[in-house]
Amino acid sequence: MVIKNLVAKEIFEQSGYSAPEQTAAVKMDANENPFTLQEPLKRRLRERMRGIDLNRYPAAGAPVLRERFAKYYGVKKNMIMPGNGSDELIQMLCMAMKGRIKGVLVPVPTFSMYKIIAINTGNKVVEVPLDKRFDLDVEAITDRIRDNFPALIFLSSPNSPTGNIFSRGKVEAIIKKTPGLVVIDEAYGAFSGRSLIALIKKYDNVVFLKTLSKLGMASIRMGFLIANPDIIAQLDKVRLPYNVNSLSQAAAGFFLDYEGEFSKQIKEIIQRREELYRGLKEIEWIRPYSSLANFIFFSCAFDSNRIYNNLVAEGIAVKNLNLPPLTPNCIRVTVGSKKENDVLLKALKNMTPERGE
Ligand SMILES: Cc1ncc(COP(=O)(O)O)c(C=O)c1O
Repeated sequence: MVIKNLVAKEIFEQSGYSAPEQTAAVKMDANENPFTLQEPLKRRLRERMRGIDLNRYPAAGAPVLRERFAKYYGVKKNMIMPGNGSDELIQMLCMAMKGRIKGVLVPVPTFSMYKIIAINTGNKVVEVPLDKRFDLDVEAITDRIRDNFPALIFLSSPNSPTGNIFSRGKVEAIIKKTPGLVVIDEAYGAFSGRSLIALIKKYDNVVFLKTLSKLGMASIRMGFLIANPDIIAQLDKVRLPYNVNSLSQAAAGFFLDYEGEFSKQIKEIIQRREELYRGLKEIEWIRPYSSLANFIFFSCAFDSNRIYNNLVAEGIAVKNLNLPPLTPNCIRVTVGSKKENDVLLKALKNMTPERGE
């Protein structure tokens, strides 16, 4: 057996997404919420978990969660579908949307999983660079649009890794021009103070993605797709029957019950983000970009691979995005607790361009 002869060429030739096992003391690479649950909330969650019958399958399609989260996001119950993280929902979209109109378009740089999932599900992918301000280049995008392409355009707003939101007018221009669906991924929306969810009432070809991963529950893998009921009905056929396990369903319900606690953490992260931004700005060889997410993207005046390695050696994990020509010598750091941000800033301040090169 020669595996190369059996596996799809596009899968064989790619390196895949690497999520390295992290043992770093200061974890600022995956855009998680740095705060864990405090007692007595932790105890209450444990009590709830104890009541679950592990011998039984979970509630198929998570109807209770649909109802509760539909209210939370201000949409009707038949407009929402839960997924095993929004990654799974991206995968469902890429599997299902292959009618007369095919393929995926993404502005770059953006969340790398859009391209990886699209390729793994047999889609053609077109990447269009963002403009100099990391906003959408509507002209370049519409230049690539055809009668039969693309079925999906993924827009992460705020965008990862750049941290900015896309102009509403530009998003709408793209929604109007494309023959397919525009997926607005608001994974980081809670940190931006802006949501475009109201567009769901205006256009029938927009889809929204939400996740609890950035809000304090990355471990439970819980994402939500919001779209008009016709789209949800088709995606529900692609969804595996028990895609969201019972423990995650219970934890997501718990999130809503104590949403106020999570909101406090989000407010604190926003405050820490501004402090971290100011701290990064003080370092002369760093150019941070202002962010409306829970991370900050910055470019370095010298080799970011060396900076990354130095940080790893000091037990600080960040995301190295030294990817020329779009993002040469760039790094993305997740906003941490005050202590974590201070550790990072101190480590960066101690690196001189000479030492880094
Ligand atoms: C823009 C964006 N969308 C989606 C995800 C994945 O979210 P989930 O953990 O819900 O799969 C991420 C994770 O980093 C992300 O950055």
